[in-house]
Amino acid sequence: MDRTILFHIFAAFLLLYNFPTTCSSRTSPNITTDQSALLALKSSITLPPDHILVSNWTTTTPSSVCDWVGVTCGKLHRRVAALDLPNMGLIATIPPHLGNLSFLVHLDIGNNSFYGDLPKELANLRRLQHIDVWLNNFSGQIPQWFDAFPKLVYLDVSNNSFSGSVPEDFGNLQSLKVLQMKYNQFTGSIPGTIFNISSLEVLDFTGNSLSGNLPTHMCNYLPNLKGLYLSINELEGQFPPGLQECSKLQSLSLSVNQFTGRIPSEIGNLTMLKELLLGFNSLEGEIPREFANLVNLEVISLHRAGLKGLIPSFLSNMSSLQEIGLAINNFSGSLPRNICSQSLVTCLIWRNKLSGTIPSEIGNCTALREIVLAENDFTEYGQEGLVSTNCDVYSFGIMMMEVFTRKKPTDEMFTSDLSLSRWVSEALVNGVTQAMDSRLIRKEEEHFFAEVSCVSSIFELALNCTAESPKNRINIKDALALLQKIRLEFLSKLSEN
Ligand SMILES: *[C@@H]1O[C@H](CO)[C@@H](O)[C@H](O)[C@H]1NC(C)=O
Ligand SMILES: *[C@@H]1O[C@H](CO)[C@@H](O)[C@H](O)[C@H]1NC(C)=O
Ligand SMILES: *[C@@H]1O[C@H](CO)[C@@H](O)[C@H](O)[C@H]1NC(C)=O
Ligand SMILES: *[C@@H]1O[C@H](CO)[C@@H](O)[C@H](O)[C@H]1NC(C)=O
Ligand SMILES: *[C@@H]1O[C@H](CO)[C@@H](O)[C@H](O)[C@H]1NC(C)=O
Ligand SMILES: *[C@@H]1O[C@H](CO)[C@@H](O)[C@H](O)[C@H]1NC(C)=O
Ligand SMILES: *[C@@H]1O[C@H](CO)[C@@H](O)[C@H](O)[C@H]1NC(C)=O
Ligand SMILES: *[C@@H]1O[C@H](CO)[C@@H](O)[C@H](O)[C@H]1NC(C)=O
Ligand SMILES: *[C@@H]1O[C@H](CO)[C@@H](O)[C@H](O)[C@H]1NC(C)=O
Ligand SMILES: *[C@@H]1O[C@H](CO)[C@@H](O)[C@H](O)[C@H]1NC(C)=O
Ligand SMILES: *[C@@H]1O[C@H](CO)[C@@H](O)[C@H](O)[C@H]1NC(C)=O
Ligand SMILES: *[C@@H]1O[C@H](CO)[C@@H](O)[C@H](O)[C@H]1NC(C)=O
Repeated sequence: MDRTILFHIFAAFLLLYNFPTTCSSRTSPNITTDQSALLALKSSITLPPDHILVSNWTTTTPSSVCDWVGVTCGKLHRRVAALDLPNMGLIATIPPHLGNLSFLVHLDIGNNSFYGDLPKELANLRRLQHIDVWLNNFSGQIPQWFDAFPKLVYLDVSNNSFSGSVPEDFGNLQSLKVLQMKYNQFTGSIPGTIFNISSLEVLDFTGNSLSGNLPTHMCNYLPNLKGLYLSINELEGQFPPGLQECSKLQSLSLSVNQFTGRIPSEIGNLTMLKELLLGFNSLEGEIPREFANLVNLEVISLHRAGLKGLIPSFLSNMSSLQEIGLAINNFSGSLPRNICSQSLVTCLIWRNKLSGTIPSEIGNCTALREIVLAENDFTEYGQEGLVSTNCDVYSFGIMMMEVFTRKKPTDEMFTSDLSLSRWVSEALVNGVTQAMDSRLIRKEEEHFFAEVSCVSSIFELALNCTAESPKNRINIKDALALLQKIRLEFLSKLSEN
């Protein structure tokens, strides 16, 4: 018995004794290795002479690389632990030497112009927890060695030109919380392994060319998911069952795909949802009444989704709702009286089959900036309810812009934050004909100049109506009078010719 213990101690001692010998038999990397890796990076970058890295990343001063800008060393081991070089306008490839920064935990080179591919030597960096290379010019496939980072928590490769399929082995990244791969050119289907990363909180594949169906019961292993962003892809099939198991979901963005079928009522169980974007799909049926439970919704966007039925009156009960987007569907019936909750900013319901009157309560909407109800069958449009306050002058202005630009808040305008009034004012800088719908007026037309001058007066008026601050907007009476004056001027110019 005693002898066995002694034996173990002896063996342990031998191990301890041998450890340094085996180690020093090869050169172990140290801070000098880190320095040459960083200098290799620096020399791969074409730097203008006044760039901070030129004067700062130098070995002429006695300072250590740990004092270089963008470099952080570990407190104990004094090796490079973090490299933070975002937003620096760097144009370069990543040298393989970066794979020698063996203590690196955090790598951020976002918003530069790095190009080429990710060298395989990076797979040596097994301590990495955070990789951010978004907004660069990397291309090629995502390498197959990403499972080399067992501790990876955050990966952002968005806004590059990566292509090919999403690697299956991402599924091994069992610490991953954020996976941002938006705006690349990924193709193929989303590997089922991704939906097995139970630590995931944010999954963003927006703006790729991913196809295929979503796996059934994809939410079974994603109890922590807060944001699922799959908009602007080529995904198809029905929404999978079991979505309610993603119970912490706050953003569900599946718009601009080819999804079919009805909207599952289980979405009504996702009571933490703030953002629900399902538009530009080929769905059918109505908005499920279970949606009444989504009391935290801020944005509901179902444009051109193939839906019909009444506009649910419970929308007015959602006190946080800022945006209602139901344009280009077959919604019928009348507009709920109190559709305009206190926080509503945008209400786009054009091109549906609504009828009846526009409720006068809309005149009380304090936050509303944009309401587009055109191309419905309302019996009263522009009547006292809608045009009695400054808020209504705003809609009136938007309506004028819509008529004369023939622009609607269409696909690309939903994905950027360009509003119609900003678009008109920017286009006007390049001359009124830029803003105008070219089908309305042609250069070869007899009354071209009279028409251009008329439309430019109307745009001027419309921009005034949509001024940022309601105080700076003309009042509706004067606006209508001015519009009448513009019309008379136009008619008199026509008769002059
Ligand atoms: C790093 O290691 C090299 C040899 O591998 C040695 O020459 C150098 O002195 C070491 N540098 C430091 C700072 O320990
Ligand atoms: C490099 O920049 C860091 C951080 O701004 C500063 O502390 C350091 O002194 C600079 N080193 C040199 C050599 O300019
Ligand atoms: C990217 O970096 C540039 C400076 O190089 C900065 O002006 C720009 O705002 C940054 N863009 C983003 C999206 O952070
Ligand atoms: C670092 O990496 C490069 C390229 O991968 C290699 O040539 C070099 O020998 C490595 N070691 C050191 C100590 O710089
Ligand atoms: C990076 O890509 C953008 C967009 O494709 C392009 O405008 C830019 O010139 C590229 N930069 C470099 C350094 O290649
Ligand atoms: C990322 O790419 C998308 C699509 O090209 C673009 O709309 C977006 O502005 C880009 N993001 C940045 C910060 O440049
Ligand atoms: C996901 O995990 C479950 C349970 O661990 C397993 O049965 C299933 O095969 C996994 N799916 C994929 C696609 O890896
Ligand atoms: C979903 O919500 C309904 C009420 O709309 C409720 O009866 C049901 O139990 C909920 N299901 C789950 C799984 O939470
Ligand atoms: C709005 O909420 C109130 C109070 O919770 C409820 O009585 C009413 O039925 C709801 N209205 C709709 C249309 O859901
Ligand atoms: C409205 O319904 C009709 C008949 O079903 C259909 O042809 C049309 O495409 C629908 N319109 C929209 C915008 O969904
Ligand atoms: C507008 O709000 C005021 C004050 O809250 C209220 O007295 C009035 O009846 C409301 N008007 C409409 C049309 O809802
Ligand atoms: C809009 O017109 C009114 C009245 O003509 C004027 O007082 C106001 O300054 C104008 N606002 C803008 C933003 O041009």
